[in-house]
Amino acid sequence: MKIAIYPGSFDPVTNGHKDIIDRASRVFDKVIVSVLENPRKQPLFSIGERVEMLKMIVTSYPNVEVDSFEGLLIDYAKQKNSSIVVKGLRAMSDFEFEFQMALINRKLDSRLETMFMMTNNRFSFLSSSIVKEIGIYGGDISELVPCEVYNIIMRKLREES
Ligand code: PNS
Repeated sequence: MKIAIYPGSFDPVTNGHKDIIDRASRVFDKVIVSVLENPRKQPLFSIGERVEMLKMIVTSYPNVEVDSFEGLLIDYAKQKNSSIVVKGLRAMSDFEFEFQMALINRKLDSRLETMFMMTNNRFSFLSSSIVKEIGIYGGDISELVPCEVYNIIMRKLREES
């Protein structure tokens, strides 16, 4: 069984993430979307909120699970019996960082393959930071985030503004 991990911050999940989840679910037997608990980052949404939002958008995918993890991705992948990491790539600007992460992860665990999915060009400009920036200043993010979580995201952004 081919189990892929799709790790990320998902602070918050966007339509770009959802597109990768949708496509990965058709390539792999099982996809585990996992939110990184990073004590060094100051996320807007708590781990619980990010996991809940992801769960809301994957209800129609029987082979997609949502989880969270802390520590090294290689250790988490081992624990989940997975040797595949899926990442989305938008522009060349993502490439350098993702290339470094993929190589370091393979150095730490030679079994681990990182597979990149090119973003759908409709989402190449999209990021969680852009969504937060637009939403906090009252811009329309309804076409940037999954409709199931739009209200939750807007509520939080209004509290912040
Ligand atoms: O959505 P993001 O912030 O680009 O996701 C980054 C993530 C979670 C994929 C990355 O930070 C990660 O894999 N962290 C786990 C820690 C780890 O394994 N580090 C070693 C490789 S750099």
